Amino acid sequence: MAEKLPRMHFVQKATKRFMPGEELGDALRGAATLGEAGIKSTVTLLGENVEAHAEADAVVTEYVAALRKVADSELDTEVSVKLTQLGLDFGVAEATERLGRIAESTASLVWVDMEGSDTVDDTLKVFRAVKERAGNVGLCIQSYLRRTEEDLAALLPLDPAIRVVKGAYKEPPTVAYAKKSEVDRNFVRLTQTLLRARLNGGEGRPVLGTHDSRMIGETNRIAYELGLPKEQYEFGLLYGIEREEQARLVRTGHEVRVLLCYGSAWFPWYMRRLAERPANLWFVAKQLVR
Ligand code: FDA
Repeated sequence: MAEKLPRMHFVQKATKRFMPGEELGDALRGAATLGEAGIKSTVTLLGENVEAHAEADAVVTEYVAALRKVADSELDTEVSVKLTQLGLDFGVAEATERLGRIAESTASLVWVDMEGSDTVDDTLKVFRAVKERAGNVGLCIQSYLRRTEEDLAALLPLDPAIRVVKGAYKEPPTVAYAKKSEVDRNFVRLTQTLLRARLNGGEGRPVLGTHDSRMIGETNRIAYELGLPKEQYEFGLLYGIEREEQARLVRTGHEVRVLLCYGSAWFPWYMRRLAERPANLWFVAKQLVR
């Protein structure tokens, strides 16, 4: 059913808010429009766990081709990949080899998304291996996980590029903070650690991936108190979400990078976006009625 949905007109209209289209060309056109507004971009091919090795290899081919297109353009665009889509379920070695192939095909930074908590250990193993081999990889970490502060401390000696987000998966309270206030507090702690590392000469670029105006304000406060210039860190936001805030950040001289998705496997990703904010359901309902 989910595979048939993209062809249905009303669903296309409803998904338009969160993604410019299903093709790479759509995402790159979206990236170009953002670029004109002073916003950098990251693109990602939607999709999660794969069932066959060939499927994971096709994802590598897709990203290598996408990166070549970006290199031939004027775009300041990076990619972000999901390791389960690169065959993490078949083992750390396979995912390492595939991520390595993508990273070695480009001079730009290749971001690794963080997925469900059961994948964190393996994701860290793959990230470390490719970071040692190719260097140009960055990692997403989630402030809702209780373990993340320790994980970050262990990663810092690698001088990594890190994107902090709150976390988008349904996790049990044994592994994740249940209260928003705790997730937010940890986001601020992780931001503090990253910005301090940057101030102390770290080359890894800190990205704060959030639409939460309080988290954005706290980040700027920490940077100001540390004396860290605005060009030393970046805000990451999702395509179509808090557009006003994206524009305001650019106007006030901040670095902004927006993540755009493309591909036909948008269903789980889209559901996470709807779950994050009940008001999105009204938006979808309005599109269906129009
Ligand atoms: P929060 O959920 O508290 O929302 C704050 C405010 O932002 C809301 O009040 C609303 O105004 C707005 N908002 C947030 N989500 C919205 C939505 N869907 N629709 C409309 N408005 C919305 N997660 C993960 O587990 N692994 C990953 O690799 C990534 N990668 C990633 C990259 C980037 C660049 C971003 C911005 C986000 C991710 N995420 C992610 C998703 C992240 O974990 C989180 O689910 C969302 O960013 C929402 O959290 P906020 O920090 O925005 O705060």
